[in-house]
Amino acid sequence: MDDKFRETLSYDDVLLVPQASSISSRKEISLESRFGKSMLSIPIVASPMDTVTGSVMASAIALYGGMSVLHRYNTIHEQVLMLKEYLFYTGREGLENPFDYIAVAVGMNGDAIERASKLVSMGVKYVCVDVAHGHHTMMRDTLKQLRDRFGSDIHIIAGNVATKEGFEDLAKWGANSIRVGVGSGSICSTRIQTGHGMPVLQSVLDCASSRHSGRAYIIADGGIRNSGDICKALAAGADYVMVGSLLAGTTESPGEVIMTDKGKVKTYRGMASKEAQNAWKGTHNSIEGISATVPFRGPVAAVLDELVVGIKSGLSYSGAIDLESFTAKSRFIRQTVGGQRESDTHILSNK
Ligand code: XMP
Repeated sequence: MDDKFRETLSYDDVLLVPQASSISSRKEISLESRFGKSMLSIPIVASPMDTVTGSVMASAIALYGGMSVLHRYNTIHEQVLMLKEYLFYTGREGLENPFDYIAVAVGMNGDAIERASKLVSMGVKYVCVDVAHGHHTMMRDTLKQLRDRFGSDIHIIAGNVATKEGFEDLAKWGANSIRVGVGSGSICSTRIQTGHGMPVLQSVLDCASSRHSGRAYIIADGGIRNSGDICKALAAGADYVMVGSLLAGTTESPGEVIMTDKGKVKTYRGMASKEAQNAWKGTHNSIEGISATVPFRGPVAAVLDELVVGIKSGLSYSGAIDLESFTAKSRFIRQTVGGQRESDTHILSNK
């Protein structure tokens, strides 16, 4: 392998090896994890996209014990309203520390600092600098401005990066959590448009080998299709996974349920899709995402319940009682094409 080329692994290339277990019930297993000063009950973060995370989704996720990032594709005033709605909905349900479960997204230039200042003045503790190519000098400048303004009062999520170098630079520049994954999302066309990207599992493995991992959280972002992928991301060293498509088809995502001849669906679009760009800035430039539909799946709590069952089952196959021991104990194998075929459901149909 020379400097110009290397082999990498994606979720489908690997499997976790089943290990001896003494866990008799999934009830024994905890998915609790610390996110900055918050203690979350699930390692899942809802993505800052306008077809995923508005105030209703954020409230439902918070009440479940997860984290979401309110999207930034609006005016500061509209984002403030989203936050107020979130506080209203979660307050109505008696959630005690609503600011423990919510982050707000800002960009890298334009109104980023003004936006962050307004939201932090309302009580926000988590700010996400949300950029497609986050390993960038403009990211360094934005992180510096945020740190100069807020010191260590806020937890900064930044990204996205694909490499260990990117992860380390963002950690050095002041990020507390880093979104890892470039071009891996289900609605991404970055790899088609630009030829750039990296299988997100490999990015996570690389970042987890950094001396900064542990000090900065790794959020595996994009390409998660099921609880099996979540288990693989966590085993590889991710502290959290960020999901878009898995949540986009639920009752709580923004947008209407559409009736089609294939059943009920909801719109899900990449934030760099032509449609999303036109909607939030009235024009578009490099198109690096698509607009699609996903099947309607009902309440998000039911979708999260299903994911939790799958992840807990995953931990028990590795004989792990919590996320920390899972990351420590889990072992991967690389599977062949034959192994991948065997891993997929493959019942012989009656011809
Ligand atoms: P999933 O697979 O969960 O991915 O649907 C969600 C993640 O995809 C990223 N994202 C994009 N990436 N073009 C891209 O290349 C886009 O238009 C786009 N919109 C979102 C983002 O990281 C999100 O969390």
